Amino acid sequence: MKIYIKDIGLYVDKEVMIEGWVRTKRSSGKIQFILVRDGTGEVQAVAFKPELGEEKFAICDKLCIESSLRVWGKVKKDERASTGYELGITDIQILQIAEDYPLQKKEHGTQFLLDNRHLWLRSAGQFPILRIRNEIIIAIRHFFYENDFILIDTPILTGSIGETATTLFATDYFDEGKAYLAQTGQLYLEAACMAFSKVYCFGPTFRAEKSKTRRHLTEFWMVEAEMAFYDSNMNMQLQEDMIIYIVNQILKKCQPELKKLNRDISKLENVKSPFPRISYDEAITILQKLGSNIEWGKDFGGDDETILTKQFDRPVFVYDYPKDIKAFYMKQHPTDYRKVKCNDLLASEGYGEIIGASQREDDYNKLMNAIQKHNLNPKSYNWYLDLRKYGSVPHSGFGLGLERTVGWICGLHHVRETIPFPRMINRLNP
Ligand code: 4AD
Ligand code: MG
Repeated sequence: MKIYIKDIGLYVDKEVMIEGWVRTKRSSGKIQFILVRDGTGEVQAVAFKPELGEEKFAICDKLCIESSLRVWGKVKKDERASTGYELGITDIQILQIAEDYPLQKKEHGTQFLLDNRHLWLRSAGQFPILRIRNEIIIAIRHFFYENDFILIDTPILTGSIGETATTLFATDYFDEGKAYLAQTGQLYLEAACMAFSKVYCFGPTFRAEKSKTRRHLTEFWMVEAEMAFYDSNMNMQLQEDMIIYIVNQILKKCQPELKKLNRDISKLENVKSPFPRISYDEAITILQKLGSNIEWGKDFGGDDETILTKQFDRPVFVYDYPKDIKAFYMKQHPTDYRKVKCNDLLASEGYGEIIGASQREDDYNKLMNAIQKHNLNPKSYNWYLDLRKYGSVPHSGFGLGLERTVGWICGLHHVRETIPFPRMINRLNP
């Protein structure tokens, strides 16, 4: 009977069949140890010549790393085996003998690994990361479902610039002029929240970021939420609830994966309510005290975020930034015209911004002014401005970068390993 390796514990002393690939092989005389992986786990399959016979034992001899095979055998419990079980081979069939595998055990450089991303995905180090990514996505969708949000799929090809004109991917679009790859689904979510109250979208977003940093991709996945009748404080509370939910789910479901990544679990266990909330002004004061030369009015660089988040044992909100460093749609601060009602959420341990959020400008004239001040074309925002004409209400929302969140939870240095096929300024293949 065909089984998956993850279930092998259910079949002790039984005959099973496994389909997979050879991770490694070692032999000593009459015995060969073949580490088989099947995408759900790994198990050591043991070929013992006196039991298997000359002919089949010779087949095992031909196997090399990443050869594909079908193997039959009896499951044995074995405390010494790294996976706790062993398969005593009774029969074997080779599907293909692999050519010399480029990713052998020795250390490879990052560029080489990225050139071979289609193979790198198979390696033991990548396995836990992408499984955790999968669980994070599922946790996010559950969170929104349980909190009565409606999923709204927003378009990838857009006519209105969602964030800023500086990082656009554009393409010709028939007689309509330029189409832009979505930098965000937010503007469409704002329309949808006036119909469904609480909505979210979850999809790829695109930014022609010139920055080569450990935090930037040109294509990344963002989950965005938008809520009618939410102000900035309610918005922050929801973000906090979501992050705590995600981290708890990962702690519950991904202990083996976190262990393989050597993740310091206690750091994740610290992610509890309440997250500290500091104003942009306070953040500047803290940074200057810690030796940064940042001045009021400037955006935080990656280094500033690293220094700042190291002061806290859990994620920290920074709210009410200067309007000049933020997007056009943010709501003007009621008492300080230089600022907008917004927040970022900075992940702990130096990871920095994982969420960008704000209350939205709900006043028609103020929004129109902001669009013009940012040199955006008001014509392509007619539909968006309509939302401020027909029953405008206070509303807020946020966007969480999936790859940065995966990087933080897994404790990785760079976002490039958090997505199956990363797109960066100098990387379009594979
Ligand atoms: O702060 P950002 O630009 O906010 C927005 O796009 C809003 N429209 C969201 C909203 O309110 N609906 O981006 C949100 C998050 C960032 O905090 C970061 O985690 C991630 O998206 N992000 C990136 N991740 C990887 N590579 C990039 N180039 C990223 N740019 C933003
Ligand atoms: Mg941001």
